[in-house]
Amino acid sequence: METRGPLAMSQCLLLLLLLLLPYTYQGLAPGHFLPTQRPQDPPELHLINGTGQEPVTIMIFDINKIIKTSSSFELRTWDPEGVIFYGDTNPIDDWFVLALRDGRPEIQLHNPWAQLTVGAGPRLDDGTWHQVEVKIHGDSVLLRVDGEEVLCLRQVYKTVTNKPKPIMRIALGGLLFPSSNLRLPLVPALDGCLRQDAWLDRWAQTSASTQTGLRSCAVESQSGIFFPPGTHAQFSLQDLPQPQAESWAFSLDLGLQLAAGTGQLLALGTPENPSWLSLHLQDQKVVLSSGPGPGLDLPLVLGLPLQLKLDMSRVVLSQGPQNQFLAMSPKDSGPLLSLWAQPQGRLFLGAAPGEASSASFCVDGLWAQGQKLDMDRALSRSQDIWTHSCPRTLGNSTDTSH
Ligand SMILES: *[C@@H]1O[C@H](CO)[C@@H](O)[C@H](O)[C@H]1NC(C)=O
Ligand SMILES: *[C@@H]1O[C@H](CO)[C@@H](O)[C@H](O)[C@H]1NC(C)=O
Repeated sequence: METRGPLAMSQCLLLLLLLLLPYTYQGLAPGHFLPTQRPQDPPELHLINGTGQEPVTIMIFDINKIIKTSSSFELRTWDPEGVIFYGDTNPIDDWFVLALRDGRPEIQLHNPWAQLTVGAGPRLDDGTWHQVEVKIHGDSVLLRVDGEEVLCLRQVYKTVTNKPKPIMRIALGGLLFPSSNLRLPLVPALDGCLRQDAWLDRWAQTSASTQTGLRSCAVESQSGIFFPPGTHAQFSLQDLPQPQAESWAFSLDLGLQLAAGTGQLLALGTPENPSWLSLHLQDQKVVLSSGPGPGLDLPLVLGLPLQLKLDMSRVVLSQGPQNQFLAMSPKDSGPLLSLWAQPQGRLFLGAAPGEASSASFCVDGLWAQGQKLDMDRALSRSQDIWTHSCPRTLGNSTDTSH
């Protein structure tokens, strides 16, 4: 961390420094900085705090001291939706949000001069670093991505000199109001990393909360959903695509990319009776079982989608050309099918309640009735689950903390 310059530093030098700061990035592709340019790179910051409903850090600035009215950072994510940062002078009628929706930047702003929601620029959810800059210039807000100006919003801003409370807040990775207060709501949690970030004027910053991001960004990642050992999530069956009604049928597809250990992968049941049907990882095999009866298994093969197909009389487990089926008597299938008729019917993912599971796994996707599920929309989940990324290998990298 740099320390403040000596107080005696001349205005002129200060101004020169401020003018130079935003330009150190420009014209350079991300990742092409000379090491000597940035001797003290601050650590990368993961944007998820817990389950992602809260920001990872909040900074407070004295408006009267802000000279540099731009912020810049690099972002790396596989997550198409979530909040990058939120800024306000008050959360009722002067706020700004930069988010991703469908992978592209979106600005929502609400102040006395303008209220708008606008998307612009390229998709950023490709797992590579992108350089982003947001700048207030006169009455305009400019958005630059990878050195290109992708949006210029004119007549949206005025400097107010005598605010009763001259502070500006910036929150990273979350909002400072409920997401329903957004003009166009989105799920704030963003499974992504920031680095090289510079927010307005460091000299105008009066305080910052301690960073509460838990995950490390040092791990090489790929797209997917990662369940570290012992983590779990649940969806209400009523929130998922519904089974085919005529000749009842329901399918789940799981793209297992990495798997290790022993434990439950998924189950169908209720909170009281959590596994009418379950899929386990055991001895390099995927084991399907229904109740206490004998199960069946397939050898664990990574990279090929694993499909579970239920109908009135049987459950089929298949992967590529291989398949196995479990015949069900009406006595067994009745309770299973009735899960969809009750509000407590659940799809459980990962460790069963109370199970000492050592299973960790990465899926490149999870589909119910052919429709991809978004972990951000789970009924509940462990905060350690990586919702939109996986480590490239299992091993030391599965350690989710610093
Ligand atoms: C992070 O989340 C925790 C728990 O929800 C919360 O107490 C904390 O204030 C959050 N951090 C920030 C910076 O808001
Ligand atoms: C895991 O980390 C430990 C300590 O950091 C190291 O000694 C060990 O070699 C690592 N193992 C692997 C498989 O990378």
